Amino acid sequence: MRTQVGIVGAGPAGLTLAHLLHVVGIESVILEHRSRDYIEHRVRAGVLEHAIAELLVDAGAGDRLRREGIVHHGIELQFAGERHRISLSELADGRTIVIYGQTEVVKDLVALRLDTGLPLLFEVSDVSVDALESERPVVRYRHDGEAQVLECDVIAGCDGFHGICRPSIPTSVLREFSREYDFGWLGILAAVAPSNDELVYAHHERGFALLSLRSPELSRLYIQCRPDEDLDGWPDERVWEELQIRLGLDGWTLAEGRVLEKGVTGMRSYVAEPMRHGRLFLAGDAAHIVPPTGAKGLNLALHDVQVLADALGAWYRTGSQALLDAYSAECLRRVWRAEHFSWWMTSMLHRADADGDFGLRLQLSQLRYVTTSHAAATSLAENYVGLERV
Ligand code: FAD
Ligand code: PHB
Repeated sequence: MRTQVGIVGAGPAGLTLAHLLHVVGIESVILEHRSRDYIEHRVRAGVLEHAIAELLVDAGAGDRLRREGIVHHGIELQFAGERHRISLSELADGRTIVIYGQTEVVKDLVALRLDTGLPLLFEVSDVSVDALESERPVVRYRHDGEAQVLECDVIAGCDGFHGICRPSIPTSVLREFSREYDFGWLGILAAVAPSNDELVYAHHERGFALLSLRSPELSRLYIQCRPDEDLDGWPDERVWEELQIRLGLDGWTLAEGRVLEKGVTGMRSYVAEPMRHGRLFLAGDAAHIVPPTGAKGLNLALHDVQVLADALGAWYRTGSQALLDAYSAECLRRVWRAEHFSWWMTSMLHRADADGDFGLRLQLSQLRYVTTSHAAATSLAENYVGLERV
């Protein structure tokens, strides 16, 4: 089989890239090793930056997003028993965030792709990439028991952090930067109306907690835990109890409901440079990971593929490689801004035993500053909704 762009991975990055390419008449084949049902129900991100929601709408992939996405103008920071609002739209030139689950983004994009009749293969196995430094890179894989070879002009490695594309780049050309955190998040999805109109990021001496949502009937909640936390020790009652303590305020209670999903996510910061090797372009989590506190991962993934689709469009139209050559540096500027912001939000809000009481006092001082200084609040707000220029 032959195509113009071989896309490994049908997460948000791969699916959005395929759609953006289709809009400008560029062919692609998407290869995904999981099933359709699996990728459509993997609960992950829920916050879209203003410009990323617009990207999906402008590309014709945002009909349901426009109808069902919930626009938020602010977030709340809770510490020392008080809640403080950060007015995102007032501080960031009217820009807002849109609450719309990653599962819904994926469902919308899969449906669009299948409607076009263009190739999106699920449950492929033994995927590998080869001849990356030639003009005819290939993806090898098995599908329905048959070994296949897909010849491409370029390959997009959109296969997430544990994919095969990044490890196919020789270690001599790849530089890796990373930081581990000694905590993770235990997250639940619950069938209960969100107890607050806006997200609440809570600093608490027992550890961080986050109140988020997916819809008027679905709450999404997280508590800081150990990275290897055993879910067996966390029956639903204990999760609610801990959420009540960490999010609780005088005169406000958290409404509880049936737990529909529960999971633990580890946290890391990671960047691989460059995001390109020969005819292989990495995008999204395949190239970089942020801790979820800044709500940046999905947004960065979609930004990468927007840059890549523009660069590929220019190349096919004009023959100029200039934008493809600029791809890695262009993406990395935004990636590093998001890395810093996510690390900063994480450090400000999570309990870190190694930093002791000194660290705790610094966090409280920083939270007080961010919620009282216009300059500091503006910095948080413009990063949170997504900077226009980086
Ligand atoms: P992925 O979603 O990981 O997709 C990669 C795809 O490639 C997968 O479908 C995988 O099955 C497939 N694949 C892997 N290996 C192969 C292979 N060998 N062959 C073929 N296919 C392969 N981000 C935000 O912006 N906002 C948030 O609020 C937010 N909250 C989060 C909360 C949690 C609990 C978690 C875990 C993450 C959160 N993120 C958030 C991060 C966000 O979910 C990711 O950054 C996003 O999924 C990245 O998309 P992607 O397409 O690059 O990678
Ligand atoms: C979510 O709703 O899943 C969510 C929201 C904000 C974050 C991370 C995750 O910072």
